[in-house]
Amino acid sequence: MISADPSEQVVRIAVLGGGTVGSALVGLIRSRADELAVQAGARLELVGVAVNDLGRARPDHVPAGLLTTDAAGLAVDPSVDIVIELIGGIEPAASLITAALTAGKSVVTANKALLASPQGIGLRTLARRQGVDLLYEAAVAGAVPLVRVLRESLTGERIQRVMGIVNGTTNFILTKMAAHGADYADVLAEAQALGLAERDPTADVEGHDAAAKAAILAGIAFGYDIAAEEVSCEGITAIRAMDVAFAGRAGYVIKLLAIVERVGDGEVSVRVHPAMLPATHPLAGVRDAFNAVFIEGEAAGELMLYGQGAGGAPTASAVVGDLIDATRNVLAGTTAPAPHRQPGRVHPASGLRTPFYLSIDVEDRPGVLGEVTTVFGDHQVSIRSMEQEDLDDGARVTLLTHAAREGDVRATVDVLSALGPVNQIGGVMRVIGEERA
Ligand SMILES: NC(=O)c1ccc[n+]([C@@H]2O[C@H](COP(=O)([O-])OP(=O)(O)OC[C@H]3O[C@@H](n4cnc5c(N)ncnc54)[C@H](OP(=O)(O)O)[C@@H]3O)[C@@H](O)[C@H]2O)c1
Repeated sequence: MISADPSEQVVRIAVLGGGTVGSALVGLIRSRADELAVQAGARLELVGVAVNDLGRARPDHVPAGLLTTDAAGLAVDPSVDIVIELIGGIEPAASLITAALTAGKSVVTANKALLASPQGIGLRTLARRQGVDLLYEAAVAGAVPLVRVLRESLTGERIQRVMGIVNGTTNFILTKMAAHGADYADVLAEAQALGLAERDPTADVEGHDAAAKAAILAGIAFGYDIAAEEVSCEGITAIRAMDVAFAGRAGYVIKLLAIVERVGDGEVSVRVHPAMLPATHPLAGVRDAFNAVFIEGEAAGELMLYGQGAGGAPTASAVVGDLIDATRNVLAGTTAPAPHRQPGRVHPASGLRTPFYLSIDVEDRPGVLGEVTTVFGDHQVSIRSMEQEDLDDGARVTLLTHAAREGDVRATVDVLSALGPVNQIGGVMRVIGEERA
């Protein structure tokens, strides 16, 4: 426990979850005990590591004597000062964190799913009320130091937009599709074989993981409490090799982006979708499973943070950073800055203006092109460039528009879909980041 003599200070830690991140964290805390004691101002003593199955094989650096299946008991153990939740998911994580905060303990977590849920929003309120920390640097982009940068270094900055590549699996897939001209399904199979994609990849490829991170980002960047279900979300499963090839020819790179953006007064746009980025954009060079977050501030201008967004050791590194912060705060009887939060008003995606890419397969007969372009004109969507390619059973028209209201582009697509000579509408994708060029 906490002693008056700094040389004898000990802060006691409970770790809930001993999987990929939990066991890497235990390894870091044990192997770097002396350095961490200097940084934190106290020795970090591991009280226990809660797991589900005591019989499961663990790395040697996780002592069997620390393991317990009594997570609920460990979370409220009176001798514990800080609880680290690395179980994941909503329950039992939410109940365990609630119990720990209620018992006056600071909590560190990497649980994006929980933090972006309505329960997560309640946990932040509870931590504030209890006067303890709830820290989550690892939840958005693993080792990339984002929460602290936005919350502390940029606290005086008026952030306009934060745009991130925050899902390594989808970035790996898109990078390989661009490099090899490969189809989505083939690259997904390769990612699964390499352990970079789950057997059920839905949460990654449909954008749900990135949506939870976007919701958390909206809170850190703008102080808005937004839940993942409020985030407009589109994944990468519809992207075809031909869309990626067109992007390359036209000077773009396709990325899955999580975007939080100030729109008008008191409104924020929070969305996840694939987009074509100019190849010169700093995010365009982020390859494979790496993460990066591009921040645009009113006075600071552009900043970018880049690094490993997942994996046991990188994620545990971010958790250790929070643990040191929480330890210092426990010793000082204070908490990390927790900016004021308010419910966020989410701006509907239909009102946003960006250029669009569209690929439309049509019958190859005179007058069809005119019919198609008339529909664009009828909806105030102006065409910037267009290319046509012969197919066996018709023609493919690929075009880029000038900036247009998303609602107008969607209405254009609806009318085109019902138009006789239109066989199929393939890629419909936003173009982002051209204002920098
Ligand atoms: N892995 C990453 O790269 C990464 C990156 C960023 C954030 N995160 C976040 O970090 C958290 C942990 O992820 P992970 O990859 O380490 O997960 P994981 O490998 O699945 O580990 C989960 C751990 O929780 C334990 N557990 C499950 N149910 C439990 C219960 N009822 N009581 C006690 N322990 C229980 C499991 O026990 P057993 O070992 O006995 O099964 C396991 O040790 C998640 O919130 C995740 O989103 C992970």
